[in-house]
Amino acid sequence: MKFFVDTADTADIAELAATGLLDGVTTNPSLIAKSGRQFLDVVKEICALTDGPVSAEVVAIDHAGMMREAEILRKLADNVCVKVPLTLDGLKTCKALTGEGTQVNVTLCFAPAQALLAAKAGATFISPFVGRLDDIGQDGMDLIRDIRLIYDNYAFDTEILVASVRHPIHILESARIGADVMTAPPAVIKALFNHPLTDKGIAGFMADWAKTGQTIG
Ligand code: E4P
Repeated sequence: MKFFVDTADTADIAELAATGLLDGVTTNPSLIAKSGRQFLDVVKEICALTDGPVSAEVVAIDHAGMMREAEILRKLADNVCVKVPLTLDGLKTCKALTGEGTQVNVTLCFAPAQALLAAKAGATFISPFVGRLDDIGQDGMDLIRDIRLIYDNYAFDTEILVASVRHPIHILESARIGADVMTAPPAVIKALFNHPLTDKGIAGFMADWAKTGQTIG
């Protein structure tokens, strides 16, 4: 499963990229607002930090407006992936852009049938939002299971990009189901490293090493 980080914070992206486990980045208008930076500047900078796809979202809601914005976004770098909402205009835009060889991430997917539409429109990625479904009392991971089944039934190439990830269990479950990609905030990815027995083990080894009075090198 590919790991994308869901942030517009370039320091966090650079830190995770250095671990070698980062396969791409997703942003959205809320994350750009949180960064306090100019959208185009930050996307360009992120694209230089990773070779993987960097999702940059259009803010127009009509097809012509989305195409105009996509034109600007895709010129920023070769690895820009244009993000469009799962609407009729969004999927029209998806069809046009992917037909021209541009990667497209279809976002704000909350139902299996919506994911079917996105695949038929040639989406590179579909982004089902699991956390936001959990928030309203539905099981977000059920959506991932349904989409996996549907995409496998028809051998669609669209990659399932699990989004709105809130905790490590979402990531683990995504991998069990066979999602292609997950995107999570930096803190959730970093939480995967943690285990109390790892910390305890390091403390024990350090204490015993100190008793030897040795140094390495
Ligand atoms: C994905 O591309 C979205 O940016 C993101 O996962 C949304 O997550 P949220 O529901 O925590 O805002």
